[in-house]
Amino acid sequence: MCGIFAYNGKKKNAPEIVVEGLKRLEYRGYDSWGIAYKTETGIEIKKDVGKIGDLKPSEQNFKESTGIAIGHSRWATHGEVTKQNAHPHVSDKKEIALVHNGIFENYLEIKKYLKKKGHKFTSQTDTEVIAHLIEEHSKTHSFEDSVKMAIKEMEGRYAIVVIKKDEDKIIAARKGSPLIVGVGKEGEYFIASDIPAFLKHTKKVIYLDDNQLCVVDKSKIEFFEHASPDPIEKRIIEIEWDEESAEKGEFPHFMIKEIMEQKDTLNRAINQDPQVLEDLAKEVKKAFGTYFIGCGTAGKVAMLGEYLFAKIAKKHINCCFGSEFKNYKNFLTEKTLLVAISQSGETADTLEAMEIAKERGVKVAAIVNVESSSIARMADIVVPIKVGPEKAVASTKATTAQIAILTLLAYACNGGIKNGKQLLINTASQINDMLNPRYEDYIMKVAKKIKDVESMYIIGRGINYPIALEAAIKLQEVSYIHAEGFAGGELKHGPIALISKETPVIALVSNDENKNEILSNATEVKSRGGYIIGVSPENHPVFDYWIKVPDTGHTSPIVNIIPIQILAYQLAVLRKNDPDKPRNLAKSVTVK
Ligand code: M6R
Repeated sequence: MCGIFAYNGKKKNAPEIVVEGLKRLEYRGYDSWGIAYKTETGIEIKKDVGKIGDLKPSEQNFKESTGIAIGHSRWATHGEVTKQNAHPHVSDKKEIALVHNGIFENYLEIKKYLKKKGHKFTSQTDTEVIAHLIEEHSKTHSFEDSVKMAIKEMEGRYAIVVIKKDEDKIIAARKGSPLIVGVGKEGEYFIASDIPAFLKHTKKVIYLDDNQLCVVDKSKIEFFEHASPDPIEKRIIEIEWDEESAEKGEFPHFMIKEIMEQKDTLNRAINQDPQVLEDLAKEVKKAFGTYFIGCGTAGKVAMLGEYLFAKIAKKHINCCFGSEFKNYKNFLTEKTLLVAISQSGETADTLEAMEIAKERGVKVAAIVNVESSSIARMADIVVPIKVGPEKAVASTKATTAQIAILTLLAYACNGGIKNGKQLLINTASQINDMLNPRYEDYIMKVAKKIKDVESMYIIGRGINYPIALEAAIKLQEVSYIHAEGFAGGELKHGPIALISKETPVIALVSNDENKNEILSNATEVKSRGGYIIGVSPENHPVFDYWIKVPDTGHTSPIVNIIPIQILAYQLAVLRKNDPDKPRNLAKSVTVK
């Protein structure tokens, strides 16, 4: 949710470096963009609506900078998508320029106070208020103290990066939204919302923790807790990710690259220290009440976890969206276990649920991709899914790896981790065979047939019900076709009224105890004119179009979602949507 990139170093082309960094962060927000940079005479601002990726080098014509620049790619929260609302925002006298990710919850109150003091505002954003507030404090205090005073007054989750006209410094502060410092060569520093943005320049990073801030000047970097004047020591960490894994390579989009990476990522997820999973399994067995939580796709994976545990471990799990978790707070005790599932590790609703749980002494575990994320750092037990950077907004490889980890965990809980691992190894090799150009061509035929429909539905039962819901998210977010998932048995209670001639309905049919019933549900739809696309190891007479998947038993949710990921991608391309940056969405949702 919004990308931040900043540079402080010797290079005079700092604005170009920031533009390039922002392009790598665009998946976090792409309504509008902007940069602020320092020249010998003051602060220059350039901003616009639209994607920064569309900015051509010839349109950049920046002045020579002093080597300090900050930038932002926006996902709008307060205020529409306009040039005025795009970041950076500046104070009245244009002495302060600032970029912000998150929400300044009490901004209206402070805006009122600043208006009384004579400040004039030009945008509808909460961010502009922070710039004015810092300027107000800097009338009587140093730059550092003014930022510290401002953040003391701010409620909400945020990351901010600030520059001042007469200072050679960048100040960055975080509370709840990510900021990472990249340590370059010879006093060169990068600050970004995510590591891939500066991977090209350095692999040395320092994580800014919650309630910390850093002051970067030309010769050094210092870190502080928000409320203390004394500098703190921070460790430089060398990270493993390589630049290539954060790039598209020969693929036209990240989404299809990440779908194809599933040939490999399942193995990466399961081939990790088995002790971590055994430890978590022990906690699940010991707990009196376990909750799996997540949001969006991760929420559907949490729901699938409930089914997998019922089936494999014969154990009841509660599942819930991060945003709904607070409604269960009266059931939380020191014996409860919370397992948070997240790709980015920065989802605000999931983080808030973890905070609620921790306040009540609940043990918290995380199944997460970004190991340096807030969720990973807050958890008592971390199971990394190890799929490398996932940049397309639509989650694909992280989803299947999360499912693989939950499957393995369920096996670990029934004492059969070795069997679970073998099953997943076999599944991974079947996925490897499945993901070939012929398979894509085959799915493309059905994509072409349904590309102009208004609505489509996905049905499943048992472990395929959460997958039907996840399939709907995938289709909605990149194709913009109205798609809904249903439990097969629920159709006759209402949704079947939506079926008319040729309405596409995807039926997820695995060889399990639900097979005959889901086939009956597909037949009911077909009798009302529906066009049945079957995802199944076998062809069945009710199918109008058959998408074959391997017969993998308990891992069928993994193999069933993959062709739908491909279908969603192909529909997006056929409908001329950008599958990597779907409208109105952002990769990590750091607002509540
Ligand atoms: O980073 P997270 O897994 O916590 O993100 C949660 C959701 O925002 C995310 O899964 C979202 O639904 C995806 N765009 C779905 O593809």
